Amino acid sequence: MPVLEVVVFNHQPHITAQPRCGCLFSFYATTNRGLEDVAAREVEELLGVKASVGLGRVFFESSLKGALKLNLASRMLHRVVLILVRSTIESLQEVYRTAAAVDYPSFIEPAQSFAVRAERKGKHSFTSLDVASKVGQAVIDTYMALKGSRLKVNLDDPDVVIQCMLKENDFTLGVDLTGPSLHMRNYRVYDHPAALRSTIAASMLKLSGWQDTAPLLDPMCGGGTIVIEAALMARKVPPGIYRKTFAYRKLCFIDKELEAEVAEDLAEGINFEAYPIHGLDCSAKHVQGAMLNARSAGVDDTIKLEVGDALRLREILDYQPAYLVLNPPYGVRSGPSLKRIADFYLKLLRSLKEAARGARVTLITVSYDSFLKAASKVGVEVLWSRSVMHGSLKASIASFLL
Ligand SMILES: C[S@@+](CC[C@H](N)C(=O)[O-])C[C@H]1O[C@@H](n2cnc3c(N)ncnc32)[C@H](O)[C@@H]1O
Repeated sequence: MPVLEVVVFNHQPHITAQPRCGCLFSFYATTNRGLEDVAAREVEELLGVKASVGLGRVFFESSLKGALKLNLASRMLHRVVLILVRSTIESLQEVYRTAAAVDYPSFIEPAQSFAVRAERKGKHSFTSLDVASKVGQAVIDTYMALKGSRLKVNLDDPDVVIQCMLKENDFTLGVDLTGPSLHMRNYRVYDHPAALRSTIAASMLKLSGWQDTAPLLDPMCGGGTIVIEAALMARKVPPGIYRKTFAYRKLCFIDKELEAEVAEDLAEGINFEAYPIHGLDCSAKHVQGAMLNARSAGVDDTIKLEVGDALRLREILDYQPAYLVLNPPYGVRSGPSLKRIADFYLKLLRSLKEAARGARVTLITVSYDSFLKAASKVGVEVLWSRSVMHGSLKASIASFLL
């Protein structure tokens, strides 16, 4: 098996196949915009390396084993990419020249197919499709020159995906190690119509300051994303174990035994303790769905799920939650209309204050102005807030004490 040494971040990329294990490589991982710092901290904690942030991305150096560990254990990342070259470019011709400097036979076997996926941000006289097409041509030409064979392109189900990102004139090209985004946890058997991204839920839990033994409540839990992510965190279950596939399994330079080694290490950390995690929703259908999701994730024995009205919390709770993490309706996809959302938030905050005084709340909403109006009426002071992208929606996460 060839082990690669990749030298990047200079304008003369140089990639060689070397029989050396434990080499360090450059990677980037994608994540939710507005939560890059939380994802960078996770990379640092999981790998013990320094990570820096870009727009929707985290950069770091690691071994290939570290990259596999992120794929299996990360709760906040979407995709891990091994960087083959990063350079400043001014034109499509430079995209071609930069991409053509990579030693593709070290990454793609002659019988394998490939596809290029390109993203572009900034002002350019060309499209992301143009970038993908130039890079594709560079891959085919380089392979032909080095190996004398023509690689097959397969846009639907390729063996190897080359990821390109052009942000202004910063061009990064790498091999996708992940495949479908890591935020798609395979435990979800019930799809809530306004489900929160699992990676945002995990980031909110991290930002909330919640520690696993403190009583946690999501009073509007829908399909259970927040409470399930919390239970997985508490039990140290790597979310990757639910996945059926990873792009790295098809890559010739990844040692086939490496994944089992990493998975075994991670499995040793799993515990089966019970944690005080509680989810409520006013919809019996969603609570039923949350139960199915929790069962599918193997954490239904540590989450209490029940039907209840978050606006009448005091009548329901027989304990004092220390942390509330929630994703109330925004008045956009479901629930009360935008006009009535400020009034709804007012009732919600009053109910939370009545039932859980002193608790720390972390919530995400697209209707942040309505939330702020309600907060000022109830006398709730926001400790911090940040803007994040929830898919295509501009949302805010805010934290406050009741
Ligand atoms: C944005 S969704 C939450 C989605 C959830 N985070 C997930 O990932 O599946 C908001 C939820 O609030 C629930 N809800 C609305 N009003 C409620 C109330 N008064 N009490 C409890 N739940 C309520 C809705 O039924 C809906 O499931």
